[in-house]
Amino acid sequence: MMKQNLWIVAVFFFVNVSAQKFDNLAQTPPMGWNSWNKFNCDVSEVLIMEMADAIVSSGMKDAGYEYVVIDDCWQVGRDKNGEIIVDKDRFPKGMKYLADYIHSKGLKFGIYSCAGIYTCQGRPGGRGHEFQDARTYASWGVDYLKYDWCYATGKDVKTAPSSKEHAIYSYSTMRDALYAAGRPVVFSICDWGFQQPWEWAGDVGHLWRTYHDIKDRWASLLIIFDKQKGLEKYAGPGHWNDPDMLEVGNGGMTIEEYKTHFSLWCMLAAPLMTGNDIREMTPEIKDILTNKEIIALNQDTLGKQGFCYRDNGNYEIWIKKLGNNERAVCLLNRSDEIKNVQVDFKVLLTVNSTYWKLEPYKLEDYKVRDLWEHKELSMKESTIYVEIPPHSVKVFRYNKK
Ligand code: GLA
Repeated sequence: MMKQNLWIVAVFFFVNVSAQKFDNLAQTPPMGWNSWNKFNCDVSEVLIMEMADAIVSSGMKDAGYEYVVIDDCWQVGRDKNGEIIVDKDRFPKGMKYLADYIHSKGLKFGIYSCAGIYTCQGRPGGRGHEFQDARTYASWGVDYLKYDWCYATGKDVKTAPSSKEHAIYSYSTMRDALYAAGRPVVFSICDWGFQQPWEWAGDVGHLWRTYHDIKDRWASLLIIFDKQKGLEKYAGPGHWNDPDMLEVGNGGMTIEEYKTHFSLWCMLAAPLMTGNDIREMTPEIKDILTNKEIIALNQDTLGKQGFCYRDNGNYEIWIKKLGNNERAVCLLNRSDEIKNVQVDFKVLLTVNSTYWKLEPYKLEDYKVRDLWEHKELSMKESTIYVEIPPHSVKVFRYNKK
């Protein structure tokens, strides 16, 4: 017991005294592509290079996507000095070459490791090698690190309690290692929300997962989405809630559902890490992922996460505060039937959340725009009737006149 108390005191001392992450990174939610959702362990140099090419040629880069991240399975062991060994069959030219290639396209390079002794796929993890790995990543030119939570607790941990304190310690160690290595790196915490990272990770990482892994299914989307309610006060520039990467374009949902997925993630100020095969994107999927008006909600520099203003079961109204005293409204139809709803834009303009207050705005000072139709509403009346297809959304933005 005594030993455990000392451990906790040591952890908090460490966290408070040497708290240091790279500032001024991820001032808006990071945007990019990650290999996991589509390719799992089937990653290679050729795949990543082709994806970087496709991000540029498809217009994704112009829409704001920047980080190209290799998830699990690029690593196969450690040498006698403890240096991480890259899979030479899949990455014959090595990570420095790949990073240089990605940088030459005007993109940024991301990699994955784990706070445990193994990664989730059983590859070598970072535990005990944090400073060494961080130096290696810096020498390769890594700009983004996703850090997982497998094999980090339980039987593999002899000395640490499997608790929030242990998570704070593990992630703070890697944060300090990255900082000591000197190359600015966006630090993505992936403990699946198990240790409530929103409560402590603001000084540790730039984003943190809030729940279990997403699956390419409508039901999974809703479960994850519901877990974000109430977390809005923890997000802001440089520190974001991460409901997990996008499944848009992976085939398990309809186009309407993918539109909803993308709109909700934008309303949540969530990181926009795509997870589809950009090389083979259909025009419909590309239109979703590159809808600049919807992306602008996500990338708004005020950095406010949207909140649920009305929850009528199958019908919800979400509001996101934007810069310049503007705001976005998202109407969500979760049901299997078409919904006809009446929307009073005058009322929605004066709604306040529990954590931010707005001036009493006047509807006459705004134009209201439909961000999927790319059209302004005529607004002869403040109330309009809207038809929302099943599993779909309507997204509006109040723009100052
Ligand atoms: C965990 C993470 C996923 C992915 C896999 C890789 O499940 O939550 O996003 O990184 O590990 O093994």
